[in-house]
Amino acid sequence: MGVYIRKTDEMPGMREALQKLAGISEFEAYRFFDDFAGFHKEYDAYKVIHPEGTLILKKTDDSRQAETEQKIYRMCQGLCVPHFYGSSDGYMLTEYIDGTDLKSPSNAGIRAAGISLAEIMNAFPPGRDYDRSDSERDLAYKMKQTEYLCQEPLLLRAYGLLLERLGSIPLTLVNGDLVPINCIYTGKKVYLIDWEYGGFYPYSYDIARFMAHSGETGKETYRLSAEQKQLFVQTIYDNLNEKPDRNMFERDIRLAVLHEYAVILRDYLKDPEKPRDEVFGMYYEKASELARELLQ
Ligand SMILES: Nc1ncnc2c1ncn2[C@@H]1O[C@H](COP(=O)(O)OP(=O)(O)O)[C@@H](O)[C@H]1O
Ligand SMILES: [Mg+2]
Repeated sequence: MGVYIRKTDEMPGMREALQKLAGISEFEAYRFFDDFAGFHKEYDAYKVIHPEGTLILKKTDDSRQAETEQKIYRMCQGLCVPHFYGSSDGYMLTEYIDGTDLKSPSNAGIRAAGISLAEIMNAFPPGRDYDRSDSERDLAYKMKQTEYLCQEPLLLRAYGLLLERLGSIPLTLVNGDLVPINCIYTGKKVYLIDWEYGGFYPYSYDIARFMAHSGETGKETYRLSAEQKQLFVQTIYDNLNEKPDRNMFERDIRLAVLHEYAVILRDYLKDPEKPRDEVFGMYYEKASELARELLQ
């Protein structure tokens, strides 16, 4: 089962937000849900149907993440993100994108995703002088993460290569949670949503996160073949206005993929009591193989 919606009662603040931001007084609200790979998600996001069309209301709070998301939507208007109408009464209002996510994408969807990522990178070219405070915080966090990798010398050594590189890696505007469910493909274009964890971070992060939890065994959370991963990386590279060295580009992505694997392994390595299940086995194998390649 994929994303589905269910009609809901009007939630507090919805009417006020729609009135203030779009002059809408007549509407029906539908909440988004999703069931996949053992997850059940109930989103605080609503499809709003009104006499003139459809919009999206997403609940906001006072968190830093909610502020970040709105700031980035403002920065990216005209790029591959939904139009942002503003926020009020605990909600933000955006354009509704009619499409499907990329849990199990076609090659056309992958190509469109690559083009959208390159579009963001071209708008915020890697290597310009962006505020490094987000990425410095991220590096400090990653350095601390090595504590749990101490038991795993191979992974620790490879992770060290990532830490070394992060001090000087070019930054761009990064979504921060660019998993396939945060990409909506209309059949023409992929829109990137859910920018709560966005900021100026190493350019490889979104590319890596998009691919790291996908595979073709049926055990991964999302589906993507090895050829599709290549197609994704190639499309991004082809569409970049300023191309980094190709080997460096590939290596930066692989180092960031290693981090994605390490995040999953962390919960197991931190807790010796946690059963080493199928998920652990799969990520451990992938991480070890990637670490060996990186250290060659
Ligand atoms: N602009 C949009 N157009 C269409 N669907 C959307 C839009 N924004 C959100 N959604 C749907 O709502 C879900 C949750 O929104 P998202 O911003 O990803 O929230 P969360 O931060 O809870 O993951 C998405 O996975 C998608 O199915
Ligand atoms: Mg999301």
